[in-house]
Amino acid sequence: MPTIEIRNITKEYESEGEERTYALQDINLTVQDGEFLCILGPSGCGKSTLLEITAGLLPQTGGEILLDDALQSGTSRDIGVVFQDSALLPWRSIRRNIEFGMEVAGVGREERRARARETIEFVGLKGFEDKFPHQLSGGMRQRAGLARTLVANPRVILMDEPFSAVDHLTRLTLQDEIVRIWQRERKTILFITHDVAEAVYLASRIVLLSPRPGKIRKIFDVPFERPRSRSDAELLSIVERIYVEINKPASDEETEYSI
Ligand SMILES: Nc1ncnc2c1ncn2[C@@H]1O[C@H](COP(=O)(O)OP(=O)(O)OP(=O)(O)O)[C@@H](O)[C@H]1O
Ligand SMILES: [Mg+2]
Repeated sequence: MPTIEIRNITKEYESEGEERTYALQDINLTVQDGEFLCILGPSGCGKSTLLEITAGLLPQTGGEILLDDALQSGTSRDIGVVFQDSALLPWRSIRRNIEFGMEVAGVGREERRARARETIEFVGLKGFEDKFPHQLSGGMRQRAGLARTLVANPRVILMDEPFSAVDHLTRLTLQDEIVRIWQRERKTILFITHDVAEAVYLASRIVLLSPRPGKIRKIFDVPFERPRSRSDAELLSIVERIYVEINKPASDEETEYSI
């Protein structure tokens, strides 16, 4: 069953006194229920633009987004977003950051506490709930940001390069955690990255974008069970195929493509 349908999405940015930027052109993509889909592409190819339009945070110039066959306008409680930096409120403790959305929604104190406690444990932050964001490591802040999204229990999670600010080893651990969450909760995940190995390790399908304007260049299937091994020969052969595609002599507008 399709959860998200991205139909003919086009985005043109206009800034005063500057040329128009065609960030996205005719993007058509269906994300199936429970799918883990990665969007891969170099800096500036329109990944964040596509994510923000899908989340209802940014208006498109043309095309439409459907959520469960219904036309989407504005944000939805079914869609949670995890941004590149965890965007925690610095004056609130981790627990109170995680409870923030529920406070705004008027959820009672008892229920808020219980749901926050469970999610904090789930993301491995037990014992740190009364700390403030600046007292946590980058990886822990990312976990807290993830917890804040998970606690609202959205069916769809959109993630915009969520691990790009953490060191390599922490990143691998966080990748494993997101796979575990996906396996346990069977959420629909749309995950943005510019890291080929990360996309191949995580995704069921990888959508490769090319820039100026952002277009779908190719879609790769990654039909392997989880948990996966990073040194698995079949996975590495997909990594190789993606690099070959990226390095192919590009047509006119794709000449500057590189990751
Ligand atoms: N508010 C804006 N006004 C004008 N142009 C913009 C705006 N936001 C993005 N752009 C342009 O749209 C294009 C796509 O930007 P976007 O942020 O979606 O890229 P991205 O793939 O997420 O890049 P990165 O990997 O660096 O995060 C870029 O050329 C960028 O300069
Ligand atoms: Mg971006």
